[in-house]
Amino acid sequence: MSLSSGKVAGIISTGRALPVGKITNFDLEEIVETSDEWISSRTGVKERRMMIREETNSSLSTAASQIALERAGVKPEEVDLLIVATVTPDQPLPSTSCLVQAHLGASNAAVFDVVAGCTGFLYGLHVADQFIRTGAARNILLVGVDTLTPVIDWQDRNTCVLFGDGAGAVVIQPVEKERGVLASKMFSDGNQAGLLYIPAGGTSAPANHLTVENRMHYVKMNGPEIFKFAVKVMAESTLKVLDMCGKKPADLDFLVPHQANIRIIESACKKLGLSMEQVLVNIDRYGNMSSASVPVALDEAVEEGKFKPGDLVGLVAFGAGLTWGASILHWYG
Ligand code: ACO
Repeated sequence: MSLSSGKVAGIISTGRALPVGKITNFDLEEIVETSDEWISSRTGVKERRMMIREETNSSLSTAASQIALERAGVKPEEVDLLIVATVTPDQPLPSTSCLVQAHLGASNAAVFDVVAGCTGFLYGLHVADQFIRTGAARNILLVGVDTLTPVIDWQDRNTCVLFGDGAGAVVIQPVEKERGVLASKMFSDGNQAGLLYIPAGGTSAPANHLTVENRMHYVKMNGPEIFKFAVKVMAESTLKVLDMCGKKPADLDFLVPHQANIRIIESACKKLGLSMEQVLVNIDRYGNMSSASVPVALDEAVEEGKFKPGDLVGLVAFGAGLTWGASILHWYG
């Protein structure tokens, strides 16, 4: 029995869902000691979206998925694999993918979550590509979603200015090599787990009044160390996957980077010799949406008609773990 379908993963359609709540830098000036000038110049963020009322991680995921499925002409019951990439599940148990499966009525899908920090969507795409290459799945729904605003310390100006909530979804099917993933790779270094983490809420420090009093349920981050790491791996991992498929940076039509800091994006772009016109940027409007930043940027680019069929597109991300990953694909179109 052959373990190769002869096909690769193609992104057939995209969708996104963003909460209606919006927080501008000027709103943050009222909450912590910061300024629009500092946030804009040091990060590139102008405003970010925030869940309000009944919105949840799974409701945003479901809304983004419904759009992607509709555009692909795929019924929920035709999905055979549903992957949700997130570090901010609705609840510890069960996985968010189970909740999304139920909301969608994707009753024939196998489902699981991928937890890989802001690299979650890239990890999910790599996993989906393996399922397609082996012929184990034909209709994959991949969601990149994060809702970090409930786990951000709104008294910590080092982190609260950076993040926003959102969801992006893609439908993935088997396609010829000229229309899909050429190469992708996942990387990780658990020795650097302490650079970005939430101390409590897991089984090593279950929630109690002390963990709450000590603000241990909020994100803790060493920003400058992550910055240095990100600048290095964004360009390095893109070059690695380009090399894996015999391509060079000059062959790229577009790069879709994780949106954590405009200075990180500009530096990666410079190292790769790309012009900023080739790079998709939406950090000004959404901040860092973790696993959602790449699929939301993809969906916006599709809507704006940026990609032509066959365009060579690079995706690259880094995040908590530390994790990082990159993917090179021909746009399906
Ligand atoms: N407003 C005003 N001043 C601030 C703010 C703020 N919001 N935040 C920090 N400062 C201050 C600091 O306190 C410091 O003051 P000090 O010199 O008096 O101590 C000064 O600004 C400089 O601080 P730095 O941390 O050196 O600032 P830097 O230029 O490194 O920018 C930032 C900080 C934006 C966090 C940057 O390091 C960064 O973007 N790092 C990457 C973070 C990241 O990508 N995280 C997400 C990972 S992905 C995931 O999995 C979720």
